[in-house]
Amino acid sequence: MRIVILDKADEAARFTADILIKKIQSKPDAVLGLATGSTMLPVYRELINAHRNSELSFAAVSTFNLDEYLGFAPDHPQSYRQFMKSRLFDLIDIDQSNTFVPRGDAKDPLQECRDYDRLIEEKGGIDIQLLGIGRNGHIGFNEPGSGFMSRTRIKTLAPATLEDNARFFGDNEFRPHLSITMGIGTILSARKVVLLASGEGKADAVRAAVEGPLTASCPGSALQLHANAVIVVDEAGAGKLEHGAFYKYAEAENRKLLESPGKA
Ligand code: GLP
Repeated sequence: MRIVILDKADEAARFTADILIKKIQSKPDAVLGLATGSTMLPVYRELINAHRNSELSFAAVSTFNLDEYLGFAPDHPQSYRQFMKSRLFDLIDIDQSNTFVPRGDAKDPLQECRDYDRLIEEKGGIDIQLLGIGRNGHIGFNEPGSGFMSRTRIKTLAPATLEDNARFFGDNEFRPHLSITMGIGTILSARKVVLLASGEGKADAVRAAVEGPLTASCPGSALQLHANAVIVVDEAGAGKLEHGAFYKYAEAENRKLLESPGKA
């Protein structure tokens, strides 16, 4: 894993956005895996700015979101489809018919899950999968206990997740407790995965994912199995890493190598 520790959350978001921007520049029809959550907002702002200022075009890009609340139609104000529309899709030149989010209102949700995995394959697979991480180590909605080989399916939200997401819902509003989420196996099939985490609240999850044992109790730890995983964290999120100082040193060396490969 490449572990990149940056001082502030906005620098970590910019670094993450740059990875996506470079991919789109080199492969205009890139297939991106996208995530929701507050951590992603500054990343999407960077992408929007790049579109406006440097005319980065998303016209040929396709996107697959990690997850959606089961039961929510795409036009439900709290759906992840709406999150993506208002935070990114409506603000760039992407063809909305190339943006995919599982249908929370599918008549046959199990079929929807199978179709989602098939569609990803038909599009040639995901070039870069963007990920956040839950306080309990979840990726997408793969809660503790999720199998590392799992594909897109229905998952029950863990109590910690319900608690964390309660802030987005009004007091008397229905709060979904089920989701459709890409499986860990689906995520690991992406050619590259980039996990972004920031803030003290994520420090335990980051430590468990990066340095803990491979365990279904921390779904993020599955990324240790990926051959091309980048973990981007701010200082606060990196605060509990045992080998934080080493990762910084290794990343500095890595950059020297990338800048002048001949000198190695
Ligand atoms: C949700 C999403 C996850 C996301 C997590 C963290 O539960 N399903 O994909 O990583 O929230 O969200 P935040 O970035 O707001 O902490």
